[in-house]
Amino acid sequence: MHDLENAIRDRRSIRLFLRDKPVPRELVTESLELAIRAPSNSNIQPWHVVFASGPARDRLAEALLEQADIAAPNVPELPEAFAHLRRELGALVYGTMGVARNDAEARRVAVLRNWEFFRAPLAGIVCMHRDLGHVDAVGVGMFLQTFLLALTARGLGSCVQVSVAGYPEVLREQLGIAEEMRILCGVSIGYPDPEFACNQLIVPRNPLEANVTFIES
Ligand SMILES: Cc1cc2nc3c(=O)[nH]c(=O)nc-3n(C[C@H](O)[C@H](O)[C@H](O)COP(=O)(O)O)c2cc1C
Repeated sequence: MHDLENAIRDRRSIRLFLRDKPVPRELVTESLELAIRAPSNSNIQPWHVVFASGPARDRLAEALLEQADIAAPNVPELPEAFAHLRRELGALVYGTMGVARNDAEARRVAVLRNWEFFRAPLAGIVCMHRDLGHVDAVGVGMFLQTFLLALTARGLGSCVQVSVAGYPEVLREQLGIAEEMRILCGVSIGYPDPEFACNQLIVPRNPLEANVTFIES
């Protein structure tokens, strides 16, 4: 078993999974038992996750891909001041996939993998009650990161995906998610494909001083 620091360092977004290596349910429930120790406002425990595996996962991926063929996902645009970060990440991710900057077709194929959960055998949809607000989304985030770290410690890979939330009607219809639940994101879970170079990508972070301020006097 990993210690916490190794799990934090080893976790990274996995963008191709071994389709045929199932995810043991007990590893997921162990990870969830740890994740629900996350703090939340007034102990509301605002997280709600719907998981799909087996034929349910396949039907969901098929329906999402079908919709992706018809319409663009409803994902909020990044504000202009932050948009360059998405471009920089795209250059890194597609670079390690061997997709050239101007190869629109290869890029489209790579993006479409989002809606087949990067071949992961287990797909989660992360929701929160519609009446809760951004403070409670902080609690969901804490739960989610703890979940990912516990999965990492058990040898499982993951990728959080806003792209999946871009087709909420498909998710609701396929998984029976009630209207009172706001769909925040998806999370793909499985064993990473060791042959896929992009899975080794370590995405850089800003230096601390770009995001943190200490005021002492
Ligand atoms: C809320 C959220 C939404 C994300 N959505 C996507 C997504 O739709 N597709 C994707 O490939 N990665 C997605 N990611 C993964 C980020 O791109 C990734 O976490 C970031 O680039 C840092 O890389 P790392 O996770 O490998 O450390 C998402 C991550 C978060 C937390």
